[in-house]
Amino acid sequence: MADAERIAVLTGAGVSAPSGIATFRGAGGVWNHAELLRLASPEGYRDDPVAVWRWYAERLDTVLAAAPNPAHLALAALERRTPLTLVTQNVDGLHRRAGSGELVELHGDLTRSRCERCGHLDELVPPLDLPPHCSICGHRARPNVVWFGELLPAVALERATRAFANCDVALVVGTSGTVQPAASLIGLAGEAGAVTIEINPETTPLSRRVDLSLRLGAVEGLAEVVV
Ligand code: OAD
Repeated sequence: MADAERIAVLTGAGVSAPSGIATFRGAGGVWNHAELLRLASPEGYRDDPVAVWRWYAERLDTVLAAAPNPAHLALAALERRTPLTLVTQNVDGLHRRAGSGELVELHGDLTRSRCERCGHLDELVPPLDLPPHCSICGHRARPNVVWFGELLPAVALERATRAFANCDVALVVGTSGTVQPAASLIGLAGEAGAVTIEINPETTPLSRRVDLSLRLGAVEGLAEVVV
């Protein structure tokens, strides 16, 4: 890490778990509730936009009440020392609040709405009128997140791909590695000859594809590698 010239990092829900935000899979996971899986889809939104918004408004309250934890802060500190691109699958905005600047939010962010007509993004400030409307054109707005069955924003995916294909150290922290295309990014780094490191208390499909697997939580693992 001390010799690294360009670092790429992929994070998942495990990084925000110490901030009190539930992961998606495993015990207590968000997707254990079938009705929530349906809400996070274009079909769920088409059928009942207000129900979808009610759920996102609740999640917004949770993330606004949460604070970045030492794992978020360690990654922000690392970026001040070494050129680093942080690609996150998290939509909670905690990396941004921790001070990470070169940040790619692959799955969007639930702190903003996106106009369904003009694409304008509005910061969501509770209490919300549901559904929210665009501050520019007045049309209905949707949550600025990627749902099941939707494509990732092309610019974000391109930045993430470039970062992993051009790094000399790649870290993957707190993700189950089950969702594509995020899970493939670490392979790009390996092909480019980078040293690849996973931090996760559990074994994942990525564990056998990395050079070093640290079976630690995000806070403890990052304390080991960010020295
Ligand atoms: P998951 O819920 O699939 O996986 C969370 C991972 O975090 C697991 O591998 C846990 O072992 C690990 N974990 C738990 N506590 C941890 C801790 N304290 N420190 C480090 N790791 C810990 O979450 P993601 O991999 O982020 O997409 O899920 C990827 C995507 O699937 C999400 O962005 C979301 C979901 O469907 C969308 O909503 C588009």
